[in-house]
Amino acid sequence: MNISRILFLTIALVIFVVLPVQAKDMVVKEPPKSLNKYYPPESDQPKWIQQMHKMSTHFGGVFVNLKEKDFANVDIHADKLVEEYKKTSEMVPEWEEYFDIPAAEAFAAAAKTHDIAKAGKASGGLGKTCGKCHAEQEVSVWAKYHWPSFHKIKVIDPINEKEVEFDDYMGSISSSFKGVTVNFGEGQYDRAAKALKTFKSRYMELKSTCSKCHATQDVKRFYVGPDADTAFAGLAKELNAEKPNPGKFWKNVGLLGKTGCKHCHLVHRTNSFIQEMWEK
Ligand code: HEC
Ligand code: HEC
Ligand code: HEC
Repeated sequence: MNISRILFLTIALVIFVVLPVQAKDMVVKEPPKSLNKYYPPESDQPKWIQQMHKMSTHFGGVFVNLKEKDFANVDIHADKLVEEYKKTSEMVPEWEEYFDIPAAEAFAAAAKTHDIAKAGKASGGLGKTCGKCHAEQEVSVWAKYHWPSFHKIKVIDPINEKEVEFDDYMGSISSSFKGVTVNFGEGQYDRAAKALKTFKSRYMELKSTCSKCHATQDVKRFYVGPDADTAFAGLAKELNAEKPNPGKFWKNVGLLGKTGCKHCHLVHRTNSFIQEMWEK
C-alpha cells in the first residue's frame, strides 16, 4: 500500500464520521451498469483501473517532483492530474457527484506554487473525493468485476454421475459429511465407514473445479491437499479400528472442517454471497 492510498483510507475514515450514515454501516450496492463498458468482457482493457492509475501517478508525481525540486515536472503532473480527473468524472454518470473539479484545480494551483506544505494542505480536499468513492464502491466493484461466479460452475457427482450446480453439490457434500459424523455419534461405525467413502469421493472431486478459475495446480495444496488427505486417512483408520478412538475421530473431523470447508469458504464464499444478493 503506498502512502497516498493510506492517506485516502485515513481520509475516508474521517469523512465517514461526518456523514449522516453511521460509520458502522456498509452498503454493498451493485455498481451502475454504465461501468460495464470499462471492464471485460465489454472492453478488452480494464479501462476504469487504467484511469485510476493515471490519476494516482500524476497525484504522486506532483510530490515526488516537489521533493526533487524538479518544478517543470511538478507543473506537468499537476495539469495532467486535473485533465485526467475531469475525464474520469465524465465516465460514469451515476458517479459524477463524487468528483469535485474545483478541489482538483485548487490542488494544481497549490502545487504550482512549488511550496510542498501548500500542496500537502490542498491535497486533502482532492484526496477526500477519491477516498469517499473508494470506501463506498471498491468492494462492490471487486465483487462484480474481479470475482468469477460459482453460480456458473457445474460438478459431476462421482457417486451418481449426475451433473449438478456447484451450490447443490455443496449440499450433497454437507449431507455426506453428516452421514459420517451422525453415525459415528450413534456408535454405528460400519455405516459411518461406508458414508466416509461417499463423502471422501465427493469432497476430493472438488479438485476438478479449481481449474475453472485458477491457472496453476499449486492452489490445490489448500483445502483439497495434504491436510485433507491426512484427515481422511485418520478418519478411515479410526472407523476401521476394532475400538475407534473418539478423540482422534473428532480431531480429524475438526481438521477437515477447518482447513477444508471453513478456509475455502472464508476465501471464496464472501463474494458469492454478495453476487447472489444482486442476482435475486
Ligand atoms: C472450493 C472451496 C470449497 C470447499 C472446499 C467447500 N466449500 Fe462449501 N461452498 C463453497 C462456495 C464457493 C459456496 C457458495 C456457492 C454458491 O454461492 O453458489 C459454498 C456453499 C456451501 C454451502 C451452502 C450451500 C447452499 O445451498 O447455499 C454449504 C452447506 C457448504 N458449502 C458446505 C461445505 C462443507 C460441509 C464443506 C467441507 C466438507 C465445504 N462446503 C467445502 C466453497 C467450498
Ligand atoms: C467515482 C469513484 C472513484 C473516484 C472519485 C476515485 N476512484 Fe479510484 N477507484 C475506484 C474504484 C471503483 C476502484 C476499484 C477498481 C477495481 O479494482 O477494479 C478504484 C481503484 C483505485 C486504485 C487502485 C487500482 C488498482 O490497480 O487496484 C487507485 C490507485 C485509485 N483508485 C486512485 C484514485 C485516485 C488517486 C483518485 C482521486 C484523484 C481516485 N482513485 C478517485 C473508484 C473511484
Ligand atoms: C469460481 C472461481 C473459483 C473457483 C472454482 C476456485 N477459486 Fe480459488 N480463488 C478464486 C479467486 C478469484 C481468488 C482470488 C485471487 C485469485 O484470483 O487467485 C481465489 C483465491 C484462492 C486462494 C488464495 C491464494 C491465491 O492463489 O490467490 C486459494 C488457495 C484458492 N483460491 C484455492 C482454490 C482451490 C483449491 C480451488 C478448488 C478446490 C479453488 N480455489 C476454486 C476463484 C476460484
